[in-house]
Amino acid sequence: MKKILKTVVLIVFAVLVLGFIVIQFFRPDFTNPPIDPAATLTANVEVPENVKTILDRSCRDCHTNETQYPWYAKIQPSAWFLKDHIDKGRREVNFSTWSALTPARRKRKLSEVCEQVQNREMPLPSYLWIHRDAALSDADIKTLCDWTEAARAKMSE
Ligand code: HEC
Repeated sequence: MKKILKTVVLIVFAVLVLGFIVIQFFRPDFTNPPIDPAATLTANVEVPENVKTILDRSCRDCHTNETQYPWYAKIQPSAWFLKDHIDKGRREVNFSTWSALTPARRKRKLSEVCEQVQNREMPLPSYLWIHRDAALSDADIKTLCDWTEAARAKMSE
Protein backbone atom coordinates (compact mmCIF):
# COMPACT_ATOMS: atom_id res chain seq x y z
CA MET A 1 0.00 0.00 0.00
CA LYS A 2 2.73 2.40 1.03
CA LYS A 3 4.61 1.58 -2.12
CA ILE A 4 1.62 2.41 -4.33
CA LEU A 5 1.18 5.72 -2.56
CA LYS A 6 4.83 6.55 -3.05
CA THR A 7 4.59 5.75 -6.74
CA VAL A 8 1.48 7.89 -7.16
CA VAL A 9 3.13 10.85 -5.43
CA LEU A 10 6.19 10.45 -7.62
CA ILE A 11 4.14 10.33 -10.80
CA VAL A 12 2.12 13.42 -9.85
CA PHE A 13 5.33 15.26 -9.04
CA ALA A 14 6.90 14.24 -12.34
CA VAL A 15 3.84 15.39 -14.27
CA LEU A 16 3.92 18.77 -12.51
CA VAL A 17 7.60 19.26 -13.23
CA LEU A 18 7.13 18.23 -16.84
CA GLY A 19 4.16 20.55 -17.22
CA PHE A 20 6.18 23.43 -15.83
CA ILE A 21 8.98 22.73 -18.30
CA VAL A 22 6.60 22.43 -21.25
CA ILE A 23 4.82 25.74 -20.57
CA GLN A 24 8.18 27.52 -20.60
CA PHE A 25 8.11 27.14 -24.39
CA PHE A 26 4.92 29.21 -24.68
CA ARG A 27 6.37 32.64 -24.17
CA PRO A 28 4.25 35.70 -24.86
CA ASP A 29 5.71 38.30 -27.22
CA PHE A 30 7.05 41.10 -25.07
CA THR A 31 8.32 43.35 -27.86
CA ASN A 32 7.34 46.91 -27.02
CA PRO A 33 5.48 48.56 -29.89
CA PRO A 34 7.44 51.43 -31.50
CA ILE A 35 6.93 54.95 -30.16
CA ASP A 36 6.14 58.02 -32.23
CA PRO A 37 7.56 60.89 -30.14
CA ALA A 38 4.90 63.28 -31.48
CA ALA A 39 2.07 61.03 -30.33
CA THR A 40 2.92 60.72 -26.63
CA LEU A 41 1.12 62.27 -23.70
CA THR A 42 4.04 64.55 -22.91
CA ALA A 43 4.17 65.82 -26.50
CA ASN A 44 0.51 66.82 -26.35
CA VAL A 45 -0.23 67.76 -22.76
CA GLU A 46 1.85 69.82 -20.38
CA VAL A 47 3.20 67.33 -17.86
CA PRO A 48 5.21 68.89 -15.03
CA GLU A 49 8.36 67.06 -13.99
CA ASN A 50 6.92 65.90 -10.63
CA VAL A 51 3.86 64.42 -12.37
CA LYS A 52 6.02 62.69 -14.94
CA THR A 53 8.08 61.14 -12.16
CA ILE A 54 4.93 59.63 -10.62
CA LEU A 55 3.59 58.38 -13.95
CA ASP A 56 6.93 56.82 -14.82
CA ARG A 57 7.30 55.18 -11.45
CA SER A 58 3.74 53.89 -10.99
CA CYS A 59 1.98 53.64 -14.36
CA ARG A 60 4.51 53.37 -17.16
CA ASP A 61 4.89 49.59 -17.19
CA CYS A 62 1.22 49.01 -18.08
CA HIS A 63 0.13 52.23 -19.75
CA THR A 64 2.90 53.06 -22.22
CA ASN A 65 4.94 51.28 -24.87
CA GLU A 66 8.00 51.77 -22.66
CA THR A 67 7.33 48.79 -20.42
CA GLN A 68 10.31 47.51 -18.48
CA TYR A 69 10.01 43.81 -17.89
CA PRO A 70 10.96 42.16 -14.60
CA TRP A 71 12.93 38.90 -14.44
CA TYR A 72 9.75 36.86 -13.91
CA ALA A 73 8.56 37.95 -17.35
CA LYS A 74 10.78 35.11 -18.55
CA ILE A 75 8.93 32.50 -16.49
CA GLN A 76 5.55 30.99 -17.24
CA PRO A 77 2.86 31.23 -15.97
CA SER A 78 3.73 34.61 -14.39
CA ALA A 79 4.61 36.02 -17.82
CA TRP A 80 1.06 35.33 -19.01
CA PHE A 81 -0.40 37.36 -16.15
CA LEU A 82 1.97 40.20 -16.94
CA LYS A 83 1.11 40.10 -20.61
CA ASP A 84 -2.60 40.20 -19.81
CA HIS A 85 -2.21 43.24 -17.53
CA ILE A 86 -0.06 45.10 -20.01
CA ASP A 87 -2.38 44.42 -22.96
CA LYS A 88 -5.47 45.43 -21.00
CA GLY A 89 -3.76 48.44 -19.45
CA ARG A 90 -2.58 49.73 -22.83
CA ARG A 91 -6.02 49.19 -24.30
CA GLU A 92 -7.61 51.31 -21.56
CA VAL A 93 -5.13 54.15 -21.74
CA ASN A 94 -1.78 54.28 -23.48
CA PHE A 95 0.29 57.39 -22.81
CA SER A 96 2.52 56.53 -25.76
CA THR A 97 -0.33 56.80 -28.27
CA TRP A 98 -2.18 59.66 -26.64
CA SER A 99 -2.74 61.64 -29.83
CA ALA A 100 -4.87 58.82 -31.25
CA LEU A 101 -7.62 59.80 -28.78
CA THR A 102 -10.29 62.31 -29.71
CA PRO A 103 -10.25 65.53 -27.61
CA ALA A 104 -13.34 64.35 -25.72
CA ARG A 105 -11.70 61.02 -24.88
CA ARG A 106 -8.51 62.71 -23.76
CA LYS A 107 -10.50 64.69 -21.23
CA ARG A 108 -12.35 61.60 -20.08
CA LYS A 109 -9.16 59.59 -19.68
CA LEU A 110 -7.59 62.37 -17.63
CA SER A 111 -10.49 62.40 -15.20
CA GLU A 112 -10.35 58.60 -15.04
CA VAL A 113 -6.68 58.83 -14.07
CA CYS A 114 -7.61 60.93 -11.05
CA GLU A 115 -10.59 58.74 -10.23
CA GLN A 116 -8.59 55.51 -10.38
CA VAL A 117 -5.81 56.71 -8.13
CA GLN A 118 -8.22 58.31 -5.67
CA ASN A 119 -10.10 55.04 -5.38
CA ARG A 120 -6.75 53.28 -5.03
CA GLU A 121 -7.61 51.01 -7.94
CA MET A 122 -4.42 52.00 -9.74
CA PRO A 123 -1.63 50.98 -9.77
CA LEU A 124 -3.03 47.45 -9.72
CA PRO A 125 -2.60 45.98 -6.23
CA SER A 126 -0.81 42.91 -7.62
CA TYR A 127 1.80 45.24 -9.15
CA LEU A 128 2.45 46.80 -5.75
CA TRP A 129 3.31 43.45 -4.17
CA ILE A 130 6.55 43.53 -6.06
CA HIS A 131 6.97 47.19 -7.05
CA ARG A 132 6.57 48.63 -3.57
CA ASP A 133 8.07 51.95 -4.60
CA ALA A 134 5.19 52.40 -7.07
CA ALA A 135 2.67 52.88 -4.25
CA LEU A 136 1.17 56.37 -4.25
CA SER A 137 1.22 58.61 -1.21
CA ASP A 138 -1.69 60.96 -0.50
CA ALA A 139 0.51 63.77 -1.78
CA ASP A 140 1.15 61.86 -5.04
CA ILE A 141 -2.59 61.41 -5.53
CA LYS A 142 -3.21 65.10 -4.98
CA THR A 143 -0.41 65.98 -7.40
CA LEU A 144 -1.95 63.74 -10.07
CA CYS A 145 -5.49 65.05 -9.56
CA ASP A 146 -4.41 68.71 -9.50
CA TRP A 147 -2.59 68.06 -12.74
CA THR A 148 -5.49 66.28 -14.51
CA GLU A 149 -7.82 69.07 -13.45
CA ALA A 150 -5.51 71.77 -14.74
CA ALA A 151 -4.89 69.91 -17.99
CA ARG A 152 -8.62 69.42 -18.54
CA ALA A 153 -9.32 73.08 -17.85
CA LYS A 154 -6.71 74.03 -20.47
CA MET A 155 -8.37 71.78 -23.05
CA SER A 156 -11.66 73.61 -22.58
CA GLU A 157 -10.15 77.01 -23.30
C1 HEC B 1 0.31 46.30 -13.44
C2 HEC B 1 -0.24 47.05 -14.51
C3 HEC B 1 -0.87 48.41 -14.23
C4 HEC B 1 -0.31 49.49 -13.60
C5 HEC B 1 1.06 49.59 -12.95
C6 HEC B 1 -1.26 50.56 -13.70
N1 HEC B 1 -2.38 50.12 -14.38
FE1 HEC B 1 -4.02 51.22 -14.88
N2 HEC B 1 -4.90 49.59 -15.71
C7 HEC B 1 -4.34 48.33 -15.77
C8 HEC B 1 -5.33 47.40 -16.29
C9 HEC B 1 -5.11 45.91 -16.49
C10 HEC B 1 -6.49 48.15 -16.56
C11 HEC B 1 -7.80 47.62 -17.12
C12 HEC B 1 -8.88 47.64 -16.08
C13 HEC B 1 -8.72 46.62 -15.03
O1 HEC B 1 -8.43 45.47 -15.33
O2 HEC B 1 -8.91 46.96 -13.83
C14 HEC B 1 -6.18 49.52 -16.19
C15 HEC B 1 -7.07 50.56 -16.33
C16 HEC B 1 -6.76 51.88 -16.06
C17 HEC B 1 -7.62 53.02 -16.35
C18 HEC B 1 -8.99 52.95 -16.97
C19 HEC B 1 -9.97 52.56 -15.91
C20 HEC B 1 -11.39 52.55 -16.31
O3 HEC B 1 -12.08 51.63 -15.87
O4 HEC B 1 -11.81 53.42 -17.04
C21 HEC B 1 -6.97 54.13 -15.94
C22 HEC B 1 -7.46 55.56 -16.05
C23 HEC B 1 -5.70 53.71 -15.37
N3 HEC B 1 -5.60 52.33 -15.46
C24 HEC B 1 -4.76 54.55 -14.84
C25 HEC B 1 -3.60 54.14 -14.22
C26 HEC B 1 -2.68 55.06 -13.55
C27 HEC B 1 -2.89 56.56 -13.44
C28 HEC B 1 -1.66 54.29 -13.07
C29 HEC B 1 -0.49 54.76 -12.25
C30 HEC B 1 -0.77 55.50 -11.05
C31 HEC B 1 -1.92 52.91 -13.45
N4 HEC B 1 -3.11 52.87 -14.14
C32 HEC B 1 -1.08 51.84 -13.19
C33 HEC B 1 -3.06 47.99 -15.41
C34 HEC B 1 -2.17 48.81 -14.71
